[in-house]
Amino acid sequence: MGSAAGFDGTTLREWYAREGRHELPWRLTRDPYAVLVSEVMLQQTQVERVLPYYERWMARWPGVAALAGEALAEVIRAWAGLGYNRRAAYLHRAAVAASERHGGRIPLGVAELRALPGVGPYTAAAVACFAGEAVVPVADTNIARVLARAVVGVAAKHDASAGVVEVAARAVLPDEGARAHNLALMDLGAMACTARAPRCDDCPLRGGCAWRLAGYPEGASAARPSPRFEDTARFARGRIVDALRGAPALTAGELAALLPARHAAELPRYLFALASDGLVEQTDGRWVLAGGQGSSSMASPKL
Ligand code: ADE
Repeated sequence: MGSAAGFDGTTLREWYAREGRHELPWRLTRDPYAVLVSEVMLQQTQVERVLPYYERWMARWPGVAALAGEALAEVIRAWAGLGYNRRAAYLHRAAVAASERHGGRIPLGVAELRALPGVGPYTAAAVACFAGEAVVPVADTNIARVLARAVVGVAAKHDASAGVVEVAARAVLPDEGARAHNLALMDLGAMACTARAPRCDDCPLRGGCAWRLAGYPEGASAARPSPRFEDTARFARGRIVDALRGAPALTAGELAALLPARHAAELPRYLFALASDGLVEQTDGRWVLAGGQGSSSMASPKL
């Protein structure tokens, strides 16, 4: 399509050719495994933080077979410091599933990708498009914000429904060059059309930007007071996995002692949630990192 009113796809792609982050290692490859690894790492994590993890990961497990053949506990250990540990378990399970279903290749079709463990709509579209040149919209947070502003005319992603953003993404998607188009939108959102301080003078879409033309209407405030990190389940879960990375086995009591007291009542919930994510297991009344005995497959998490 590429025909939404005011949306200048040509200028966008010229901007990307000039300003885009072409040298990111996962943009220099079309290997779907490498792209999948990068996209999973980049969920909720900044590019600069991901770079060394990605390089180490690809050196250690350069393909599906290497990752699927590794003990899950080793994979979880390698994730230390990246956060949201369940992503490590999902990547391992996706590699095992790709070995079993696709002869050790990460597929390029959106439906096959979606059927892999832990691969949601964004990641499936990203791998299909960035590795396979599929003509599909890709809408991460940055892209959704750019589309919400430039096409829909609202201040922020949450001022438009997901369905509206999806329609906008399809409306501007070109029949050719979808990969460069999606990467351009992503970089625009990261570099110019930022959430807090958009630099509209530097934006290739400023001429037709619906938000700018509407006089920059304010959006609904997204401000929700966020809890202190130490009070969140994410903090507690991360600390539990960190402790098990360095210890063979710990009792619930020993784990409770590592957490601020206010988490005590929630500890069973955290542990069973981690077990259901495939990150930890219970053996003989103690908790251990999952998949530590050289097991190479993790079809379903053990509770
Ligand atoms: N390039 C390709 N996918 C990316 C992502 N998710 N974040 C940043 N750069 C990317």
